[in-house]
Amino acid sequence: MIRFENVWKQYDDGFVALKNINLEIQKGELVTLIGPSGCGKTTTMRMINRLIEPTSGTIYIDGQDIAKMNPVELRRNIGYVIQQIGLFPHMTIAENIALVPKLKKWEPSAYQKRVDELLDLVGLDPATFKHRYPSELSGGQQQRVGVIRALAAEPDIILMDEPFSALDPISREQLQEDIVKLQEEIQKTIVFVTHDMDEAIKIANRIAIMKDGEIVQFATPDQILRRPANSFVRGFIGENRLAQRQTAVPTAEDLMSHSIATVSPKRGLAEAFRFMKEKKVDSLIVTDKKQSFLGVVTLKELEKHYHQEHLLVADIADFDVTTLTKDADVTDVAEIFHQRDVSAIPVLDGDRLVGVITRSSMMRGLAEWEFQKQP
Ligand SMILES: Nc1ncnc2c1ncn2[C@@H]1O[C@H](COP(=O)(O)OP(=O)(O)OP(=O)(O)O)[C@@H](O)[C@H]1O
Ligand SMILES: [Mg+2]
Repeated sequence: MIRFENVWKQYDDGFVALKNINLEIQKGELVTLIGPSGCGKTTTMRMINRLIEPTSGTIYIDGQDIAKMNPVELRRNIGYVIQQIGLFPHMTIAENIALVPKLKKWEPSAYQKRVDELLDLVGLDPATFKHRYPSELSGGQQQRVGVIRALAAEPDIILMDEPFSALDPISREQLQEDIVKLQEEIQKTIVFVTHDMDEAIKIANRIAIMKDGEIVQFATPDQILRRPANSFVRGFIGENRLAQRQTAVPTAEDLMSHSIATVSPKRGLAEAFRFMKEKKVDSLIVTDKKQSFLGVVTLKELEKHYHQEHLLVADIADFDVTTLTKDADVTDVAEIFHQRDVSAIPVLDGDRLVGVITRSSMMRGLAEWEFQKQP
């Protein structure tokens, strides 16, 4: 749909703002451009409607080189929302919204209906707001009108340059949800500039992360969270956001008990039997001196071989035991209890034993985890 091919931009003062941008945006996709101030987001975006021309390279829309298209025609099919709102002060809200539909020669009844629909969409009562002038609206209200004005003529492409930045968090979330819904319903191709990673993750199909005029990573939010391309991306996402995602469900570490009944592989069976009675458990975890996990010995096996006095724990232990790493999530734990006849699952950090999950430690861990989540 929109394709940048080896696009460079050098401004008149010699500053190179974009260095060889290659980017392909699919039809119906919502792509966010994100990156530090001055990295070239606005420059990239304004090339799509030819408010800025590349120094070299080509931009195609539907396979057509836009440098060869009439810029006025081109812009009529591209909605544009800028941070500074850009409403025309001498036109009413209704006139502002209906501007492009009028240019496209819509019937008055059609664009009047559209104005009402769009105002409703962003929670502005048409009867109240239609006939006001921009200066008679709050900043946030003006910005909402800016957003819907870009949608009014149903363009194929919508460019949005930090459209929600002046909004309060609630209106902002509302509009983010509207955009996602709208996107699903009418499948517009949207290029959306933001500084806010949470916003990008919430609305984007794919995120292009920019730095110093280059695209550092272009991938889905999930891929970016899982596999940040480098330390810049990692820093930009923020370590705590990465961590937050990982603790969205309880992990083995949350569900395990730290009081573990362990035994050395060199112990005799009578000793192991006494440990079990003392700790009131029906299995012991076999570890070496350094607390490395080796296996499990069960009461059942002990009873079976008890009369063979020469045997040691090492001889009867099961060394092929299902274990979990401490960051395994609750579904893995449930799966093991469901599929196997085990009463305790060892939890490892590397090969070191750090805990054990039993059905009761799991229930307790879940309850505590829920409790901690309460505000
Ligand atoms: N007309 C111009 N002449 C010279 N340099 C410019 C011009 N316009 C922009 N620049 C420079 O190009 C770089 C990219 O600017 P751009 O507006 O694309 O950044 P941005 O990523 O949108 O930043 P922000 O997040 O602050 O909006 C900046 O360093 C800016 O100073
Ligand atoms: Mg900008």
